[in-house]
Amino acid sequence: MAFHFHLILSLSLLTLVVFPSKTQSRLTQNYYQKTCPDFEKIVQQVVTDKQLASPTTAAAALRLFFHDCMVEGCDASVLIASNAFNKAERDSDINLSLPGDGFEVVTRIKTALELQCPGIVSCADILAAATRNLISMVGGPYYPVRFGRKDGFVSKAEAVDGNLARSNMSLSQIINLFAARKLNIKEMVALTGAHTIGFSHCKEFSNRIFNFSKTSDDYDPSYNPKYAEGLRRLCANYTKDPQMSAYNDVITPGKFDNMYFKNLQKGLGLLASDQAMAVDGRTRPLIDLYAANQTIWFQDFVHAIQKVSVHNVKTGRKGEVRRRCDAFNNLKT
Ligand code: HEM
Repeated sequence: MAFHFHLILSLSLLTLVVFPSKTQSRLTQNYYQKTCPDFEKIVQQVVTDKQLASPTTAAAALRLFFHDCMVEGCDASVLIASNAFNKAERDSDINLSLPGDGFEVVTRIKTALELQCPGIVSCADILAAATRNLISMVGGPYYPVRFGRKDGFVSKAEAVDGNLARSNMSLSQIINLFAARKLNIKEMVALTGAHTIGFSHCKEFSNRIFNFSKTSDDYDPSYNPKYAEGLRRLCANYTKDPQMSAYNDVITPGKFDNMYFKNLQKGLGLLASDQAMAVDGRTRPLIDLYAANQTIWFQDFVHAIQKVSVHNVKTGRKGEVRRRCDAFNNLKT
């Protein structure tokens, strides 16, 4: 009897220790209500100032957030700086073009928050909140975000390869990459509508505008001819000046609208991966739908970005709240 009692007691203690209560591990919208009541207000203030001063911030943060979530989950692993012992995610080849504005807006928010409520708000939550606010600032939908993500303990450049799509991949390869993150074709197309804002460097599409057929110096015939000629002029010196870039959405470059999808229907898709979606039977009906109806695209985008934003998040002791976003608290890890 006594043995049974002890067994039951130890089992229930084990349950308490091993399995944290659900409320502890679940993300909630009001996670910081008591510990940092001004969290959302501070995010909004900093984001507004930064976006007004540097209008490229919204696109920068959105790409940064997406690249964070696709590798190790949304845990701010992309924000870690490399050191002598560790080449971090942000120094992987594909992440080298992540613009400074995205990192900077997070740093500014973190600095402001550390003054108000030190050690409370994770960098992963800051990036999720800033991205949401910036999308809405440039005309996109505002959606609820749940908080309570912890910052991760791992950031390795070699973990990035194979987890993020490249513009020269086939559509099937890209579909598979998204599928590996449990994102279906509809969610993939809705998310990639993010290319309604921001830039791409010439090298990302140079093979479509110069020497496309290898025998003569022509361009990809799926481009609208005037657009291709404009891009050729813009990128004429791109090997000497690798910073040369073009707007992802040539018609309304700074506005989060469904123009990206309308562009694809007219041969105005900048990257090969963009244009492929307008041609392939698996994606084309979605391009047509979103081009015709921005409201449906916004709904589908919100669903998909919310799914991305909780991808593989760490809660409880699986992460920490970093003191600064570019370094682990314990520098030895
Ligand atoms: C379908 C697969 C995708 C491919 C192949 C792709 C590829 C690229 C490339 C090559 C660039 C240009 C980077 C540069 O030259 O600086 C870019 C920019 C961008 N991408 Fe994607 N992307 C994809 C999906 C996404 C998704 C799902 C999102 C977000 C939800 C996203 C957000 C962005 C943003 C906002 C920019 C502009 C960044 C800036 O202006 O700084 N992309 N993407």
